[in-house]
Amino acid sequence: MQRSPEIGPSHADAKAYGTFYTDAQIAEFLAWWGIRTGTESVLDPSFGGGVFLRAAAKRIHGLGRNPRQLVHGVEIDHVVHRSISKKLGDEFGIPPQNLMAGDFFHQQGAARFNVVVGNPPFIRYQNFSGESRQIALKRALALGVRLSELSSAWAPFLVAGIAQLRPGGRLAMVAPAELCHAGYAKPVLEYLGRTFERVTFLTFEQPLFPDISESTILVLAENRGDHQAVFRHRDFQHPGALSPVAEKEGSNIPGAKSVDAEALQSGDIRFIQYLIPRKCRELYAELSESAGIKLGQVADVGIGYVSGANDFFHVGPDEVSKWDLPEPFLKPIIRRSRALRGVSLTRRDWRENLRTGEASYLLHVTGDQPLPQQVRRYIEDGESQGFHLGYKCRNRTPWYRVPHVRRPDAFLSYMSTRSPRLVANEAEVFAPNSLHGLRLHQQTEFAPESLAGAWQTSFTRLSCELQGHALGGGMLKLEPTEAERTMLPKFAMDPLEALALTAEIDRWLRTSDDARAQAEADRFILRDRLNLTKAECSLLSDAVISLQRRRTT
Ligand SMILES: C[S@@+](CC[C@H](N)C(=O)[O-])C[C@H]1O[C@@H](n2cnc3c(N)ncnc32)[C@H](O)[C@@H]1O
Repeated sequence: MQRSPEIGPSHADAKAYGTFYTDAQIAEFLAWWGIRTGTESVLDPSFGGGVFLRAAAKRIHGLGRNPRQLVHGVEIDHVVHRSISKKLGDEFGIPPQNLMAGDFFHQQGAARFNVVVGNPPFIRYQNFSGESRQIALKRALALGVRLSELSSAWAPFLVAGIAQLRPGGRLAMVAPAELCHAGYAKPVLEYLGRTFERVTFLTFEQPLFPDISESTILVLAENRGDHQAVFRHRDFQHPGALSPVAEKEGSNIPGAKSVDAEALQSGDIRFIQYLIPRKCRELYAELSESAGIKLGQVADVGIGYVSGANDFFHVGPDEVSKWDLPEPFLKPIIRRSRALRGVSLTRRDWRENLRTGEASYLLHVTGDQPLPQQVRRYIEDGESQGFHLGYKCRNRTPWYRVPHVRRPDAFLSYMSTRSPRLVANEAEVFAPNSLHGLRLHQQTEFAPESLAGAWQTSFTRLSCELQGHALGGGMLKLEPTEAERTMLPKFAMDPLEALALTAEIDRWLRTSDDARAQAEADRFILRDRLNLTKAECSLLSDAVISLQRRRTT
């Protein structure tokens, strides 16, 4: 996606409207795929700079027809609408009445288009508010799609776009990759599944839109009607690889493979699984079945506390002594994943982190106990700086009592360039929501340290890549639900052996030799306990490397 200087979105509205413009190459491919005869009426429900409408007009023209009466669009940004409508009128003769200014959710009439193309607005639920949002969710509900309050704008947009299609129609759109994995997107995936005969998802090794942190895919859905769709998937290296496809006659995407639609909808599989060799996929599935256990069966994963004003509540040693803050009101914390090293975070680690600023204290007031003078003075100083007026603080009483401060058994980093870190909380410290916290189930046989050891196996590292999701910038994000789905090897080990294993792995992790830590974990657990061969371990670790490389390059 790009912001074109010539026809760029107007002013500050661009962000509020979730505006990112699509490259002509992608728009042309989608228009080529959607428009087959040149007689189809086409809609872009949010046409922005008009790249899809231009591509559609060119495609229709190329098929020997006149696009004038066939190309339609809607755009909410009035400044952009005005300038682009004029250009489309000048260039292709598209009449102004075909190009509506306003909110697509307000413009719902009968289904009258054969093709819907475009790239919906990317507005997160926090910013997707007001009447537009209410209408959008109601509109989706009327179509039988119950979307959660956490839905981003693109989700009802896609649903409402599909509803504009006549029977037999085609949808060819850009969509965020979270369509295929976010919990809130499940009803959209199901709607696609029951509304089309065939849906093909195209993923790309190189991001389609390098400038945004959202990872995106292309959705090609054909033959609107009452169906149980066949889902297919094909991965391309880059959008340039679409050109040879568009030179062929038919609209079938060569090399697209069938995907288990039910498993995709339930979150049990992701497209990324199809990017590793079949042999490895089978080994992973077999291992999961016979010797694997989900992290969620061992522990609950949740986010850390939300202070609402970290600059006020997180105090370093200098502030502690300056304000003479008493110890019972201070909780030791770690703040960033950089503080996580080894298999276990020790008290000594925490003190070292305190020196580097990765750790500090949380000012923690509980109950209604009287506050010592020093704490009162610190709070008054905070109020004089307006900390009590922030959203979280002003919505709780008293504003300076941070809720849900619980000590986890282990920490998990949730944004990583390499593999996420899982580290036992030997230091008994706390963490804000910049880290996930694990609370082990009572009946589990895993000690936090052996869990952290098992986390280093190539089996679990591969599972993190498969369950987490890549952000546009190459980071791997692991939401709590995704973390709970990651697989661990289940193995029996006597306490002395477990101690030796964790000590060995701890040593390598602390020297940042992650590869060696993984090799040791594989040797101890996968080979000696679960009888995997060296070649099988290599199959798993090669897959980890290839997925990490794909994500980060
Ligand atoms: C991601 S951009 C895509 C623009 C264009 N289709 C493209 O791909 O280059 C999304 C567009 O949706 C428009 N938009 C946002 N909310 C809208 C709404 N409720 N109705 C119509 N257009 C909307 C924005 O102004 C923006 O132009």
